[in-house]
Amino acid sequence: SPSDPDLVARARAAKEKLGDKVFVLGHHYQRDEVIQFADVTGDSFKLARDAAARPEAEYIVFCGVHFMAESADILTSDDQKVVLPDLAAGCSMADMATAEQVAECWDVLTEAGIAEQVVPVSYMNSSADIKAFTGKHGGTICTSSNAERALNWAFEQGEKVLFLPDQHLGRNTAVRDLGMSLEDCVVYNPHRPNGGLTAQELRAAKMILWRGHCSVHGRFSLDSVNDVRERIPGVNVLVHPECKHEVVAAADYVGSTEYIIKALEAAPAGSKWAIGTELNLVRRLANRFAAEDKEIVFLDKTVCFCSTMNRIDLPHLVWALESLAEGTLVNRIEVDKETEAFAKLALERMLALP
Ligand code: 13P
Ligand code: SF4
Repeated sequence: SPSDPDLVARARAAKEKLGDKVFVLGHHYQRDEVIQFADVTGDSFKLARDAAARPEAEYIVFCGVHFMAESADILTSDDQKVVLPDLAAGCSMADMATAEQVAECWDVLTEAGIAEQVVPVSYMNSSADIKAFTGKHGGTICTSSNAERALNWAFEQGEKVLFLPDQHLGRNTAVRDLGMSLEDCVVYNPHRPNGGLTAQELRAAKMILWRGHCSVHGRFSLDSVNDVRERIPGVNVLVHPECKHEVVAAADYVGSTEYIIKALEAAPAGSKWAIGTELNLVRRLANRFAAEDKEIVFLDKTVCFCSTMNRIDLPHLVWALESLAEGTLVNRIEVDKETEAFAKLALERMLALP
């Protein structure tokens, strides 16, 4: 739907008043009405790097979700302030791993006598606490665009990986990219005693996957893939690696949001694509590429927007920008110093991956 012209004018005026003092980052899953005001757009990896590359901006307004804003705060200097236009924009996947649960898991691995062999690899979609745990135990962060490199690095440091919190990205990367078998992976369930695993199972596993998932991508199914192939002969199925393993295995291409955009840019005219990722992005791509005669459809019409990404809307963005323009700092995301130090270690290991 077209944005309210009054709000558009207000956002523009506030941004103009702030000038170089503000830098607006927009994740690819953001609404069109918000994306139009982003100074850069990107996947979570690109945005983390872009935030770190703006030392002159006093305010970083992060149009995305809470863990992204935390990561930006960790990677920017102390006098830069990161603002999340709606504090309720969380991520249900990141919430699936708490610091207490992960500490308990580490005790279980210690009891089983394997903690020393385990390198934690945590998906960007996790709280700063989990990133700090990862840094403290010699591990790295990864995103969906560098998970393969992160896992290869981790298996050079140790024999086993504890992958947090997205079981699907962990499994898909281990099996598709590293050539492991499904039997090399076990799932640690934080709601069961000892994660629901025996010490023997833990000792035999190479990949210990945390039982977390994305509530949006988890809804694409093998039926979604089969149905679209039947409906649109010759369609290319392109999905995000947060989808279930069976969906990824049945797809033609798999990659992060940035990869998805590049693949469609490179696609020949006349090609047909079914995309399995968040709806705001798919709609935007469908509109953008219609002019180039590329047919782009949503992989499954019953899957909805990411509700927390959608919390950042134009009214919230206008409120944040106008507040900053008037000199009032609102909705600052600030990670405490101790957490930040260890989390930064893990994020910097990611940024240094070959
Ligand atoms: P990417 O932007 O890394 O592809 O991740 C998708 C996502 O779910 C972010 O929340
Ligand atoms: Fe979290 Fe999934 Fe939404 Fe990304 S799409 S923010 S992983 S719930």
